[in-house]
Amino acid sequence: MPNAEQNSGTDQPCEIAVFVSGGGSNLQSIIDHVQQGHIHANIACVISNNPDAYGLIRAQQASIPTHIIEHKHYETREAFDRELLKTLAVYNIKLIVLAGFMRVLSPTLINEYQECILNIHPSLLPKYTGLHTHARALEANDTQHGCSVHFVTAELDEGPLVIQAAVGVKETDTVDTLAARVLKKEHIIYPLAVKWFCEKRLQIKGNKIYFDNSSLNQAIQLSPEHEAQLK
Ligand code: GAR
Repeated sequence: MPNAEQNSGTDQPCEIAVFVSGGGSNLQSIIDHVQQGHIHANIACVISNNPDAYGLIRAQQASIPTHIIEHKHYETREAFDRELLKTLAVYNIKLIVLAGFMRVLSPTLINEYQECILNIHPSLLPKYTGLHTHARALEANDTQHGCSVHFVTAELDEGPLVIQAAVGVKETDTVDTLAARVLKKEHIIYPLAVKWFCEKRLQIKGNKIYFDNSSLNQAIQLSPEHEAQLK
């Protein structure tokens, strides 16, 4: 089972697998920061359950190996996940990054990569797990909405929170305008969380998150100082 502490020394880039189902703008943001030297990682492969995912093209443009594993060809979630595991086993993956991957992973995969899976979700968790988060925030007349990065556990969109970024909701917002502002923040908090994991500044033990060796009792809130770490 991979573990952040098993990373073979600080000089070795962290081997990452990114899972996508759609546009892959979060993948692109991580690719860009790896290429700019802000994240000490190698994106070893990109895996998609959707053959039409634009994220696959983004990966190919960055010369990253891609794999299409269509969930509809597998009778059970476990069988699909076993196929994902087979593909991952070809690489020496230390971190799985779920970047708009719209399948729920089963314990079959999560237990194998315990403490090594990050997800991004378009809401200020624990609010609005699941789908249609922007519409639900608008319907509830929320004044604040945003996005969260968390470690993945067996529960949907749950698992200890790492970092969140809030955006103010405007009276004139539609689902699309709100989603676009949240996505811009996603493109900052996700590379930051990946960077910190690869630098071993971010770790999870059991259900507890440690950042710079101190336990985190609540999610880090994005600040300009954090953003500066990506410049
Ligand atoms: C992002 O908004 C991400 O937070 C969301 O899908 C979008 C993917 O965009 N993920 C989820 O809803 C997971 N529960 P992208 O493909 O352009 O990165």
